Amino acid sequence: MTNYPTMPVDGRAKKHIVILGTGGTIAGTGEPGRTTGYTAGTLELQTLIDGVPGLTGLARLTGEQLINADSDNITARDWLTLVGRINALTHDDVDGFVVTHGTDTLEETAFFLHLAAKTHKPVVMVGAMRPYTATSADGPMNLYQAVALARSDAAKDHGVMVVFSDGIYSARDVTKVNTFKTDAFSGRDIGCLGYMRDDTPYFFHKSLQPHTLSTPFDVTGLDALPSVGIAYFHIDADPAVLDFMFAHYDGVVLAGAGDGLASSLWSDRAARLIAETGKPFVRSARIANGMVNFQTNGAISAGNLNPQKARVLLQLALTVTRDHQKIGQYFATY
Ligand code: SIN
Repeated sequence: MTNYPTMPVDGRAKKHIVILGTGGTIAGTGEPGRTTGYTAGTLELQTLIDGVPGLTGLARLTGEQLINADSDNITARDWLTLVGRINALTHDDVDGFVVTHGTDTLEETAFFLHLAAKTHKPVVMVGAMRPYTATSADGPMNLYQAVALARSDAAKDHGVMVVFSDGIYSARDVTKVNTFKTDAFSGRDIGCLGYMRDDTPYFFHKSLQPHTLSTPFDVTGLDALPSVGIAYFHIDADPAVLDFMFAHYDGVVLAGAGDGLASSLWSDRAARLIAETGKPFVRSARIANGMVNFQTNGAISAGNLNPQKARVLLQLALTVTRDHQKIGQYFATY
């Protein structure tokens, strides 16, 4: 673990915040000033920290570069490494965690940690839409606010949070909603937990769903997670896709139209495959808002989890049980 020299801060005892680096655009570099055509995950944590005025005055910082990748290349193995470090370090003299991460899959890693990290200490995930070398890069302010949030007493008991563009979001509800603008994350119609103004968090909401220490998902000792695929329904979608998915995965999530629905051909094929294979099939919606909450033909409803979040919960559920009723209860609870 690297220690970063810290500045004194007006007599207050400093909190100890661990920053875990995984890469992304926040650590990306390209042609000076430009926001396109760059490479994500090229800079080390030390450079990111040096690039944020006042950061070392906020907290005593230590850090680890766990990986340095474009987040489209993050794997379940990386999740297990990350959660393993948080679960180990939480027993040390640590007050909170910041995880730097690419934005493309940030919401998936965030929800995985929200369900599987065994800590009551704040875990704040952060990224950037513009690389470090861009004009008006957004990473430095996002990182500053992530450390400020992680050291805050107000951040306790919210599980994993994401800080982005002055917003604080629950890992459960947050999703990426823009391909390039800096205000790229949203809690959809559930909203945000609150705002950051400079280094001060203002909370207005709290998620009611249990997380972290209050879930049955403990991945200690695992070196892989059950495999779950997402089947995306569209007009004229070939039901043979479902044959492939049920043959290759331990469970399947439907990104359905409307209320998590699909054609009669797909629904009938899914019902048959659930019965034949005994594998779980979770209906979610490709729609940004609302929820899927009625049961059909042996399928489990994803509630208001989007397909990629439903996939994370199904992977974790399958580490505990193959019982569809129990998995359905997990979806109603988390
Ligand atoms: C990535 O997800 O690693 C690249 C894109 C980004 O961080 O915004």
